[in-house]
Amino acid sequence: MSMDLFGGRRLKMGIWGLGRGSAFINSARALGIDIVAGCDFDDHVRNKFHEICPEAVLTADEDEFFKMDFEAVLVSTYCPNHAADTMKALRMGKHVLSEVTAFFTPAQGVALVEEVEKRGLVYNLAENYPFTKINMYLARLYKQGLFGELAYAEFDYVHGGANPCTSYLDGTPVIPGNQLHHWRGWLNYHYYCTHSLGPVMIISGLRPEKVTAFPEDVYCKGTVHGKGRKVDGIVPNLCAFAPSLIQMSNGSIVRNLMGGSVSDSHQKRFFGTKAAYDGKYLHIGGGNAGPRLDIDPQWDEMGEAAEKAGHGGGDFWELYYFARQIITGEKAPWDIYAASDVTLAGIQA
Ligand SMILES: NC(=O)c1ccc[n+]([C@@H]2O[C@H](COP(=O)([O-])OP(=O)(O)OC[C@H]3O[C@@H](n4cnc5c(N)ncnc54)[C@H](O)[C@@H]3O)[C@@H](O)[C@H]2O)c1
Repeated sequence: MSMDLFGGRRLKMGIWGLGRGSAFINSARALGIDIVAGCDFDDHVRNKFHEICPEAVLTADEDEFFKMDFEAVLVSTYCPNHAADTMKALRMGKHVLSEVTAFFTPAQGVALVEEVEKRGLVYNLAENYPFTKINMYLARLYKQGLFGELAYAEFDYVHGGANPCTSYLDGTPVIPGNQLHHWRGWLNYHYYCTHSLGPVMIISGLRPEKVTAFPEDVYCKGTVHGKGRKVDGIVPNLCAFAPSLIQMSNGSIVRNLMGGSVSDSHQKRFFGTKAAYDGKYLHIGGGNAGPRLDIDPQWDEMGEAAEKAGHGGGDFWELYYFARQIITGEKAPWDIYAASDVTLAGIQA
């Protein structure tokens, strides 16, 4: 059942790239957003999408897609193509929610910022990790002043090795060789920096300003696996660690760790000048003398709907903020400038 969020005003949306794009169907339904069109040139991906969203008209051809009647588009195409694809969507007069990351080179970033400013359309980055229950809870505490100011944080986005080079995201094998030139097979993991740095930016409200990193030379061998196993974006070439140190705009330091390894790590540690979160407990005050609190994070308003929409709730919130900005004009967290900040930190690393 969908909510009557914006005075009954419904938004018509298209999805370009129907793999990850399909993760938004439940959230869209819950928010009263109509997914009317979809585009993917891969038959397997298109057919899968049709099974779960039969109401959308699907095409393999992007020009056909843009002739359809919708006002906003989710750009969920190949990661290094997001800037070019977003530029096209903006030129076609659509508001854009772009999957991470925003662009692949700084020059593309400049062109994209100029295009967004020129068009006056809404641009948001679909960075969802700040909107999990725990990260929204930490953001609320930070806003209330509990942490003081950020001094140091460590956030991880590390996955256990799996191999979608040889399979679709649902595990179905693709023709050998077909996917081996896919961006997941060659992109340095530093580029995929937003799921770990993004939450720190949203919790603290700070911008990344300086970045330093060492290259890593030790690689795990990837595993090729069959149908049915859960996969999440790691291939042999990405089975390495990509840590960077980032100085934020208040002088604090963030250790941003991405990578693919033998196991997942999504740890977070967040030290403020008055309190800290160690991944499990909140520590208040200094010198180990203050209380250690076992916390039970709660959602903001609408959290139940976010939870039901799946994927930790993050997709629901980013879609909500995007629709809200289009309909009411209220600014969403990931505008083009925040999107540029978070994307550049990875490129520079
Ligand atoms: N926020 C998250 O949690 C999360 C999770 C997974 C993926 N992603 C991001 O979403 C994006 C899509 O990821 P994915 O996992 O679906 O893998 P992917 O990169 O293989 O997806 C691209 C999809 O778009 C289609 N496509 C690309 N260019 C096209 C074009 N010009 N016309 C028609 N179809 C085209 C491809 O056939 C493919 O199905 C990636 O950028 C990825 O970084 C984000």
